[in-house]
Amino acid sequence: MRKPIIAGNWKMNKTAAEAEKLIDELKPLVKKSKPEVVVCVPYTDLAATKKAIEGSNIKLGAQNVAWADSGAFTGEISAEMLKEIGVEYVIIGHSERRTYFGETDESVNLRLHQALKCGLKPIVCVGETLFEREKKRTNKVLKRQVLEGFKDVTDFTDIVIAYEPVWAIGTGKTATAEDANKTIGYIRNLVKKTWGADTAKNLRIQYGGSMKPSNAKELMAMRNIDGGLIGGASLKAEDFAAIVNYKD
Ligand code: 13P
Repeated sequence: MRKPIIAGNWKMNKTAAEAEKLIDELKPLVKKSKPEVVVCVPYTDLAATKKAIEGSNIKLGAQNVAWADSGAFTGEISAEMLKEIGVEYVIIGHSERRTYFGETDESVNLRLHQALKCGLKPIVCVGETLFEREKKRTNKVLKRQVLEGFKDVTDFTDIVIAYEPVWAIGTGKTATAEDANKTIGYIRNLVKKTWGADTAKNLRIQYGGSMKPSNAKELMAMRNIDGGLIGGASLKAEDFAAIVNYKD
């Protein structure tokens, strides 16, 4: 059985002081959660968030990681730096990184290998744009992102994939639960063909894109959907908790 995982992606929101306040509100609301609960916070919030989540079931994530161990990479943050703070998860290849900061399947692959080498659990994002969807290229794009992004990966035990259709991110438009389930099924099948049935069966694949309290239950009821990567709705404790507690 795959344990569901609900992760908040705070993106570039919340100062360290605001992070502490949000975590304090969140802790009691999610303490009996069935899914694994993760918050992926800005780098400058990591230390304060680590302290704030102490003794709770909330796990700490970052939003990116450098591909090199150390050196002349201005603006980057290494896996060792993240590990020392107590980071467990790291988002890699979010569509905003791909769109605004030039991330490619190749850089995603490099960061992924580094995360795995250093013992960070990667949440790797894939997803098509509206243009690609309208041109009926969704599966082709996903195939490229998965085969190139996961090139030379042999062990998927610690990996989570987040399927985030770019047109659904921050737009209020959600893929229908059936649609999301079908597309995630395509990704799972691709993993099965490439890496084998056991890998595909155990791999957790989240949906992301305008997931909110009102649609979480329906999405989470789908056979292939193992969780959510939540943007906007993760910035309010009650909304994020309502998603985490979708069954209640
Ligand atoms: P929203 O939930 O705000 O649409 O963002 C989704 C996302 O990009 C999570 O990584």
